[in-house]
Amino acid sequence: MDAAIDDGVDVLSLSLGSPARNFFDENIAVGAFSAIEKGIFVSASAGNDGPSFGIMRNGAPWLLTVGASTIDRKIRATAVLGNNEELDGESAFQPMDFAPTQLSLIYPGSTASNPFCTQATLANIDVRGKIVLCETGGIETIAKGQAVRSAGGAAMILMNQETEGYSISAEAHVLPAVHISYGDGLKVKAYMNSATTSTASISFKGTIIGDDRAPTVAYFSNRGPNPPSPGILKPDIIGPGVNILAAWHVSVENISTKSTFNMISGTSMSCPHLSGIAALLKSAHPDWSPAVIKSAIMTSADLMNLGKNLIEDETLQPANVFATGSGHVNPSKATDPGLVYDIQPEDYIPYLCGLNYTNQQVEIIANRAVNCSEISSIPEAQLNYPSISVFLGSTNQTYLRTVTNVGEANSVYTVQIDPPPGIDLSVEPNTLQFSALNQKVTYNVTFSRSASARSKSIVQGFFTWTSAKYSVRSPIVVFIQ
Ligand SMILES: *[C@@H]1O[C@H](CO)[C@@H](O)[C@H](O)[C@H]1NC(C)=O
Ligand SMILES: *[C@@H]1O[C@H](CO)[C@@H](O)[C@H](O)[C@H]1NC(C)=O
Ligand SMILES: *[C@@H]1O[C@H](CO)[C@@H](O)[C@H](O)[C@H]1NC(C)=O
Ligand SMILES: *[C@@H]1O[C@H](CO)[C@@H](O)[C@H](O)[C@H]1NC(C)=O
Ligand SMILES: *[C@@H]1O[C@H](CO)[C@@H](O)[C@H](O)[C@H]1NC(C)=O
Repeated sequence: MDAAIDDGVDVLSLSLGSPARNFFDENIAVGAFSAIEKGIFVSASAGNDGPSFGIMRNGAPWLLTVGASTIDRKIRATAVLGNNEELDGESAFQPMDFAPTQLSLIYPGSTASNPFCTQATLANIDVRGKIVLCETGGIETIAKGQAVRSAGGAAMILMNQETEGYSISAEAHVLPAVHISYGDGLKVKAYMNSATTSTASISFKGTIIGDDRAPTVAYFSNRGPNPPSPGILKPDIIGPGVNILAAWHVSVENISTKSTFNMISGTSMSCPHLSGIAALLKSAHPDWSPAVIKSAIMTSADLMNLGKNLIEDETLQPANVFATGSGHVNPSKATDPGLVYDIQPEDYIPYLCGLNYTNQQVEIIANRAVNCSEISSIPEAQLNYPSISVFLGSTNQTYLRTVTNVGEANSVYTVQIDPPPGIDLSVEPNTLQFSALNQKVTYNVTFSRSASARSKSIVQGFFTWTSAKYSVRSPIVVFIQ
């Protein structure tokens, strides 16, 4: 990262990262601090350990932490069962010559030691000429298909595990195959249990654009809170990271073609989308700091999917802010955000002291002498972040925010509050007046428990500054103590 800084890069795109540690102990967090001091934007993957809560990679507040969601393009393949039930899935391999005739359907997992369709588990099962139901896990998808094909299988239906829900992949396969959701996999099993002889086929339908449930958070996308600093909401944003088509270093087929592209999924795919968007924002606004670019991306993000419903997760239920952060990136809105929350590199020092790091620990990050006793440290929620995460006991808590006007010189914003359930949220003042560009204005947000607050619960809400032209939204999460 130091070498990249020396090279004079504008954006660092980090599709890598280790499990969360304290920031002074995390190479990327330390390296990225030097980068943002030079005005370099750093975008990083949230990690693919989902969907449990409280696991996050690259959660330092000076990084843009990027989760992954689907896009509205499906590479459709449909499992057609003998009872005429049709279950839509996906496959990047779309054989033109596969006759959609019904084949005998077999589930090796009912007798084998595991349902993953490895070479070993198929050894004593006759799958010749059959369509084979396999489950995700154990070995890589392409290797499952290879095992089925070398055992003489004709095709494969690949079903999810429960935790993977409705997240499905359009992947390269070596035989006709369709990947379906856990829920649809249960339907296949129910059909097999009820039918005396079960059959199935696959119908390949090619590319379909316009899935109105997109974007949906992928099961693997890491969820907050971020243990080293739960008082900063992470991830920051979600972006395209499922079934992303891109260049690849070898041919994935190894057979007849030399086409070097592949379709894969991960926060390693969503992070570079955000890096590219940050580069566009930086070229449109060369004077914007990394924190301003990040604020613009976060406060303008979308909460709704293309069908105008709340963005869902892999269970097809509305995703919470620990999955989506501020929402799904909306690049054209991000270029004209109205108001932004700026943070100077030195503003992170009182925050780091507030995490109760020792002077030496803060110095590892700051790369200079720091004496926390001589700095008035701040709680995490006081960092001028575009979202707010607080731990609320019985005492009211007030946090200051500073917004900078990058919209219209003369403008008036009023606040709209969608308070978390059980929380009284007041914003003072509730109107902000601007008469110049780059003018800064401050306001306070006060959190207090209402009579309906449930102890030991976690609740979410939003507040939004709205002018005639702009809408500047901050997500809020409250851990009620
Ligand atoms: C293609 O070759 C690579 C590298 O040898 C291997 O990892 C991959 O599994 C092969 N793919 C197929 C479809 O055989
Ligand atoms: C830091 O220490 C103070 C005093 O013990 C405590 O009130 C505060 O909660 C600690 N902060 C964190 C982030 O642990
Ligand atoms: C840090 O500041 C405190 C208070 O001013 C002082 O007592 C202490 O010696 C300083 N520590 C270092 C290492 O300079
Ligand atoms: C915010 O609250 C602090 C203390 O509670 C107060 O000193 C400050 O004037 C307030 N600022 C605004 C803009 O209301
Ligand atoms: C806390 O906030 C509530 C609601 O805004 C208010 O009624 C109450 O007086 C506040 N308590 C204190 C101690 O300031």
